[in-house]
Amino acid sequence: MIEILTAILAFIPAMIANSLAVVFGGGPPIDAGKKLGENRILGDGKTWRGLFGGGISAAIVGLVLYFLLRPFFPLYPSPLFYKTLMILFSLSFGSLLGDIGGSFVKRRRDLPRGENSPVLDRYDFVLGAFLLTSLTRPDWMIRTYFEGNGWIGTLIIILGIPLLHRGVNIIGYKMGLKEEPW
Ligand code: CTP
Ligand code: MG
Repeated sequence: MIEILTAILAFIPAMIANSLAVVFGGGPPIDAGKKLGENRILGDGKTWRGLFGGGISAAIVGLVLYFLLRPFFPLYPSPLFYKTLMILFSLSFGSLLGDIGGSFVKRRRDLPRGENSPVLDRYDFVLGAFLLTSLTRPDWMIRTYFEGNGWIGTLIIILGIPLLHRGVNIIGYKMGLKEEPW
């Protein structure tokens, strides 16, 4: 049980990074308005402020959660603090880079900014977070998301994301933060 809970709670920085990017986003786009062929490389929806504002704030939320829960069970156990930070930043920035990768693919498929792309929108950030963290901290990744009952946490994340994604986007839309409810 504790392994499942750890796997899910540890993934929070990855899950909130994109919502926080909506809050902090705006300003100059990452692709600087440049095109690749007919379409923008990424589009106006991917900004530097969203990337760094979302990435840093999501890692900070994860850090606070880590300290709060540490007396009960450590989410990112490591004797070296910088390794805990590496996990947090990999999860949050991996999530945002995955989302940027998703936009890149959407533009290549002729989908304009904000267009709904169910599979990409839901899973690009999960893939990005898992990939980057697998590169920076493979040992933690395997222990948390594959070994023991951790894989059940992984499964719950994958199956639960569409629901969570839908819920958060509807809230963001109603709050006037997002232009579309997806
Ligand atoms: N956002 C941002 N920078 C990011 C990610 C998101 O500024 N790196 C902000 C933008 O204001 C964006 C909003 O969050 O419009 C919603 O994000 P998302 O749905 O990912 O972008 P879309 O506008 O839908 O664009 P795309 O079609 O490229 O996904
Ligand atoms: Mg969108």
